[in-house]
Amino acid sequence: MAIEIEQPSVGLSRVAVSETHGEESPYFAGWKAYDEDPYHETTNPTGVIQMGLAENQVSFDILEEYLEQHSEAASWGTTKSAGFRDNALFQDYHGLASFRKAMASFMEQIRGGKAKFDYNRIVLTAGATAANELLTFIIADPGDALLVPTPYYPGFDRDLRWRTGVNIVPIHCDSSNNFQVTPEALEDAYHRAEKMKRRVRGVLITNPSNPLGAAIDRKVLEEIMDFVSLKNIHLVSDEIYSGSVFSPQDFTSIAEVVEARNFKDAERVHIVYSLSKDLGLPGFRVGTIYSYNDKVVTTARRMSSFTLVSSQTQHLLAAMLSDQKFTANYIKTNRERLTRRYDLIINGLRKARIECLKGNAGLFCWMNLSPFLQSQTTESELALWTLIVHEVKLNVSPGSSCHCSEPGWFRVCFANMSQQTLQIALNRLYDFMELKNFKPLT
Ligand SMILES: Cc1ncc(COP(=O)(O)O)c(C=O)c1O
Repeated sequence: MAIEIEQPSVGLSRVAVSETHGEESPYFAGWKAYDEDPYHETTNPTGVIQMGLAENQVSFDILEEYLEQHSEAASWGTTKSAGFRDNALFQDYHGLASFRKAMASFMEQIRGGKAKFDYNRIVLTAGATAANELLTFIIADPGDALLVPTPYYPGFDRDLRWRTGVNIVPIHCDSSNNFQVTPEALEDAYHRAEKMKRRVRGVLITNPSNPLGAAIDRKVLEEIMDFVSLKNIHLVSDEIYSGSVFSPQDFTSIAEVVEARNFKDAERVHIVYSLSKDLGLPGFRVGTIYSYNDKVVTTARRMSSFTLVSSQTQHLLAAMLSDQKFTANYIKTNRERLTRRYDLIINGLRKARIECLKGNAGLFCWMNLSPFLQSQTTESELALWTLIVHEVKLNVSPGSSCHCSEPGWFRVCFANMSQQTLQIALNRLYDFMELKNFKPLT
């Protein structure tokens, strides 16, 4: 029996009572629906299929095979290189040099050697979540603003705003140019922030984008770089999906733009990366900040004391990521498998008369159900989303939870389940579209 405790009137901090965490959004409500009735192929075949979680499970077998062949890398430490004491004793906030070197070289490998990373500039954090928050703490003060292109990853409401007291001002993008950022949209967001008397401290982009599943064109990156230089503000590039681009030539890292400009204005550029997506290890909590700004590197390193990565995890990943034969095979195979999944879902959705934005990266597609909305409103989008979650039993993420300016778009994840489960999800959607006789409204 639950014990009822009378709530005292004792005060709590502003952070504790703040509403900016964003937990009330449909993004998290959909997770709840899944948690209450999770699909299982034998024990609960009519349950909710989780398509709201950007998790990569398609290449687990390659990681498992590595671990079987290199069990010493994951042990508590019986070898000299990763002895138990090495893992258990004090770790300073720089992290292991061997791991930072391996991480820098993995980041170069993903970019096909088109950018260089100095391991001394790698700051380790507990995932990209911590990296994004930490950078926000460093570049902005409470009340300041960061400009973020919409639609954006719903977690940013928590990561950039909640504990930092910083505001997000949206850079509105729309389907007329495939949701790409334009100089006009950047200026518009900047002026809106100024009107609200918010000091703009930076632009934060996600490249490739979550939720769009598409990389940002080089021309657009150049324009964003020109904009931040002109306004004398920062540019944070969250490149957490950089290794999940289907064809490597489709991705340009901001690091390449910085190098092509001979590091002019580089001190305002910071890259966020993590192993949660490309390597499918969100539970390991491994992220990095790579900054070209010495002061930011030093401060981030000091702050990383709050969100360190365990020594054992670093030892394991140092061994794994320094094995270039393993990483080359992993990156290539993972790309091929993600591409196949993407093709499968796009073709399946097309059979159900549903189109998506043309994607080239990531663990999800950006599905356009706007032709089927009763009216072009957020209410209509959420009404359709409720049907999809509770009748079709698929948890997808409505565009409004990503602050999309246009109603009717949904993010659908395809890499966190087996191919059979994905096929069942597609069949359910097909049947739903037939049953409701949904035709695009002209
Ligand atoms: C764009 C983006 N940034 C950051 C994160 C958080 O990643 P991590 O698990 O490394 O904290 C995610 C996770 O979905 C993401 O999509």
